[in-house]
Amino acid sequence: MKIFKAQHAGFCFGVKNAVEMAEKNLPNYDNNIASWGPLIHNPPEVNRLTNLGIIPRENLDDINEKAILIRAHGVSPVIFKDLSIHNVDIIDCTCPFVSKVQNIAHDYGKKGYTILILGNKSHPEVIGILGWSNDKGIVFADLEELKKYDFKDQKLCLVSQTTQNIDLFIKVEDYLKNKYKEVIVFNTICSATRKRQEAAIQLANQVDLMIVVGGLNSANTQKLAQLCNETGCITKLIENADSLQSKWLCGIKNVGLTAGASTPDWIIKEVIKKMEEIKNENLGSKVDGGDNME
Ligand code: F3S
Repeated sequence: MKIFKAQHAGFCFGVKNAVEMAEKNLPNYDNNIASWGPLIHNPPEVNRLTNLGIIPRENLDDINEKAILIRAHGVSPVIFKDLSIHNVDIIDCTCPFVSKVQNIAHDYGKKGYTILILGNKSHPEVIGILGWSNDKGIVFADLEELKKYDFKDQKLCLVSQTTQNIDLFIKVEDYLKNKYKEVIVFNTICSATRKRQEAAIQLANQVDLMIVVGGLNSANTQKLAQLCNETGCITKLIENADSLQSKWLCGIKNVGLTAGASTPDWIIKEVIKKMEEIKNENLGSKVDGGDNME
């Protein structure tokens, strides 16, 4: 069995930066910092960070740490305001690509544009962007949802959640430009997502089984699994090495591996190590079987 890793897989720049900033700042606060929600969408990595002293907090009243991390997804200005009243140091780990979308929403909202945000309403990044749009934002998940609105005589500004699909974004852009007069478009899709998706599809087309590693709560990891599955390749989504089942690898010649943008290297390495172990066990049992037959 040969194991192939996708050309682009695992931590993206923004998530890596957030984890590094968190670990760098820990000693300055007696190894005790809060994060506004889990720092990233990867439960095993969040457990590791919690053990180091980075404690996820969801409520202002629960924060008794002296500093709080804002995660790569960013937050709305209301959260910044609440946290500053709470007298806690804010360590802003918002990914610069997300800040860019927030700034566009803020600037064009102030200029009177309706901010159309292509994304998932319940995703923290989208909730944050909406918060920056001066009450001028509308979130929609797809073209069907967008078509329910009538924006006659409004100035429109289109942005996207950074992890959205580019094909859908282009369809939305075409629709808006054909239907409305004043439309300004910012393609705010992050290339990290596109690169991971393209590399995963390419690999899925060449192997017998794809293993996608990442948080089950991570949208970009789920998307990778969906895209691999759509190629027709058998696809398994796992959070860590413990979930890898040896029976999946039975009779498989080529197995591919990819990982979401919030999956750390140490989890990817553990999964590869376990695959190697299973491969060696299978080889061993074949040799044993041969010996017995003789
Ligand atoms: Fe930032 Fe792109 Fe990652 S927006 S958090 S580098 S997926």
